[in-house]
Amino acid sequence: MNRRDFVKTGTGAASALLLVKPDTAFGYASNSAVRLGLLGCGNRGTSVATSFAQNTSAQVVAVADLFADQLAAGRKHFDDVNTSLGKATIADKLVFRGPHAVEQLASSPDVDLIQISTPPFFHVPHLEIAVASGKHVYVEKPVGIDVQQTRHALEIAKRVKPNQSVDVGFQCRSAPPIAAISDRIKSGALGKIASVTGWYFAPASKEHAVTGPSKDEYRLRNWLWDRALSGDILVEQNIHIVDLCNWFLGAHPLSAIAGGGRNILTHFGDCWDNYQVDFTYPGDVHFSFSSTQFGSYGVFDAGLRLFGADGTAAVPYSGPMEIKGSQPWSWAASAATQAGAGQFAANGAFLDNLQFADRDKERTFIASITDGPAHNQIAQGVETALSCMLGRMAGLTKHQATWEELLAHGEHYDIGFSVDQFA
Ligand SMILES: NC(=O)c1ccc[n+]([C@@H]2O[C@H](COP(=O)([O-])OP(=O)(O)OC[C@H]3O[C@@H](n4cnc5c(N)ncnc54)[C@H](O)[C@@H]3O)[C@@H](O)[C@H]2O)c1
Repeated sequence: MNRRDFVKTGTGAASALLLVKPDTAFGYASNSAVRLGLLGCGNRGTSVATSFAQNTSAQVVAVADLFADQLAAGRKHFDDVNTSLGKATIADKLVFRGPHAVEQLASSPDVDLIQISTPPFFHVPHLEIAVASGKHVYVEKPVGIDVQQTRHALEIAKRVKPNQSVDVGFQCRSAPPIAAISDRIKSGALGKIASVTGWYFAPASKEHAVTGPSKDEYRLRNWLWDRALSGDILVEQNIHIVDLCNWFLGAHPLSAIAGGGRNILTHFGDCWDNYQVDFTYPGDVHFSFSSTQFGSYGVFDAGLRLFGADGTAAVPYSGPMEIKGSQPWSWAASAATQAGAGQFAANGAFLDNLQFADRDKERTFIASITDGPAHNQIAQGVETALSCMLGRMAGLTKHQATWEELLAHGEHYDIGFSVDQFA
């Protein structure tokens, strides 16, 4: 009987832990590498997997992608990273291309952890295969682009095994200044919270040129502009700020009204270039959120402010992270920095207050694999994705949308083609 079978017999994890040495309780000697397979060798995937390689005991041993050029660039990058760390380059048998690369990665006995960094539309189908394999999973946000996918994700969440760890890519929660201010907000430093305001003003995303005639390939390579593939800017990008608001308030919004549209962008796609959303949380707490994603004049600013009876908290990506009021506090390293002066990073690897977000997120996740307890963040990821979908639904229907309505009717998106054509 192996350890997993032992736990399954109902004897209980606590008893099982008594029978194995602490450093091997989760199947890893404390100094052995967690073998990571990257699915989706793009901008973010490469950045996160590099951070895993450089900041944790994980080693990138496998790469997988739909497209040959992306795969080749990913392999070259991780061969260089591994060489710089004195580790082996990626073996030929662990390089997977095409629409079934995810299944090949999932069935490989040489991979312990699958990192899903594909476009949002694929997160849930890829999560299903990765979770079924029994391997640990790091999946990018959002967990689903529509209500149907989030329901599916919650079913998948129930199949996660006790010692299988699943994280969702909300790295902002792990940024040391944000984790510190969150502790203070949650312990009541602001008193009764009256309202929250948040913003995400980002530059336009760039076009990826495609040489062939395939419209589907053009859409796939420019998925950020396509609502069915991305979820739209509220669900794909602004989600980090909505996630922080949910986290600080300990709740999801109950309803939303919203406006916005496509006032500037004229290129291919149907994603809006601005959203203005008023979310209502329990206790009639309003979260007023504004976002833009266009222009190339170097402006980037994201963050939120909370206003309470006894204090106000500023939580910017760049600029002073602080609480003013009866329990004043500030993050020393951010005090002299200028609000809104940050650089946008399309790969999510921001500096300033987010500088160590990825590093600490990855370290905590790997510790959950090597030392336990295992994570299962799927439901939390779904809650935040649904919160953004609530704002999107309110904006698109131009009516107040409630949480119940969203769950009952929702919106469903289909990309309308199969990736099998890229076999
Ligand atoms: N957490 C963050 O801060 C953050 C920041 C940026 C992006 N992201 C998320 O990361 C994910 C990837 O974003 P990106 O900017 O790296 O995109 P990208 O386009 O640069 O990379 C996506 C990769 O996936 C590959 N791919 C597409 N469809 C595939 C399929 N069906 N099977 C296998 N491979 C497939 C593409 O060829 C490409 O290499 C997205 O979900 C995005 O929302 C998160």
